[in-house]
Amino acid sequence: MFPSWISRHFTVLLLSTSILILALLLNSSSPLARSLPSLTKVKNFSSWSKPAQSSANMPKAPVYFFSHGGPDVQYNKTHPVYPVLQRIGKEITQKVKPKAVVVFSAHWQAEPNEIHLNNAEDTDLIYDFYGFPPEFYKATYPNKGSPELASRILGLLSDAGIRARGVKRGLDHGVFSGFNVAFSPEENPLGCPLVQVSLFNSEDPDAHFRLGQAVAPLRDDNVVIIGTGMTVHNLRDMRFARGSPAAPLPYVASFDNALKEAVEADPAVRKDRMAAVTKRPDAKQAHPWMDHLMPVYVAAGAAGEDKGVQTWTFHESSFAWAQYRFGEVPA
Ligand SMILES: *[C@@H]1O[C@H](CO)[C@@H](O)[C@H](O)[C@H]1NC(C)=O
Ligand SMILES: *[C@@H]1O[C@H](CO)[C@@H](O)[C@H](O)[C@H]1NC(C)=O
Repeated sequence: MFPSWISRHFTVLLLSTSILILALLLNSSSPLARSLPSLTKVKNFSSWSKPAQSSANMPKAPVYFFSHGGPDVQYNKTHPVYPVLQRIGKEITQKVKPKAVVVFSAHWQAEPNEIHLNNAEDTDLIYDFYGFPPEFYKATYPNKGSPELASRILGLLSDAGIRARGVKRGLDHGVFSGFNVAFSPEENPLGCPLVQVSLFNSEDPDAHFRLGQAVAPLRDDNVVIIGTGMTVHNLRDMRFARGSPAAPLPYVASFDNALKEAVEADPAVRKDRMAAVTKRPDAKQAHPWMDHLMPVYVAAGAAGEDKGVQTWTFHESSFAWAQYRFGEVPA
């Protein structure tokens, strides 16, 4: 897919990054030696099919977008995003206290017109990355799916006219790498079921917005919906990275800022403003493929009338790490 000189540069870069990371890991006191703690406090939720009891008094759960980084994010405690993801994770477990989490990751694009979702309770992780140190392929992340919640989501998608089906599929690194920071099994376990739903295999912002709208009723049951991707993501241009952390390329700030303005716009105009962002002249530089961007549209769709706010961002090399929240966090 890339011209060979680009792949060559990319391979060299990956190789050198890997060696650097490996060297650091061998020196550190083994963040990889994670034991698999038991999944505690999984709540009883045998009542998914019933609508929420008194949604008038119950606030809707907020919706989040995480910029999740690469498979190395869970090992790099010096990266500025690390404490940010930890803080957001604690906000969710300590204040929102969700009944379950539904996650849409950049790394699962099912079909152009069909959504897939995991409906199994126990699955293996998917190591969907290449050229990283062997230890990265032993990462763990204890989690439980929920066949009941999966079937409720299938119902909601069907009501919205979205074709969908359940499959057995484990979490990909778009989920487990960032979640190992935000919801560290040792320090801040999620403690509730986690169901991953795919994106469409398309770059259609409106279709992804409607996907979010379709699952929005879950928020009335205190289910937290999270999209995970990156707000700027250009792997090809990593070869231009200079410095540590690497200075951002020009389109990183312009695109990240434009996206912020659109996401934070009045919810009445947000859908159109966000769709326009994908047509900007810098959009194809910021996202040669739109897979890492689409989860923001799912989150905004799920947000309904609730405003979005960028809680943090960071510009580095050919990447932007903006984090968003839609709706209110309970006091
Ligand atoms: C879960 O809740 C349902 C009804 O709310 C109850 O019938 C069932 O026994 C509960 N299961 C557990 C394991 O507590
Ligand atoms: C951790 O992240 C920082 C900021 O991007 C970077 O400078 C550093 O090289 C990274 N460390 C490793 C081991 O990748």
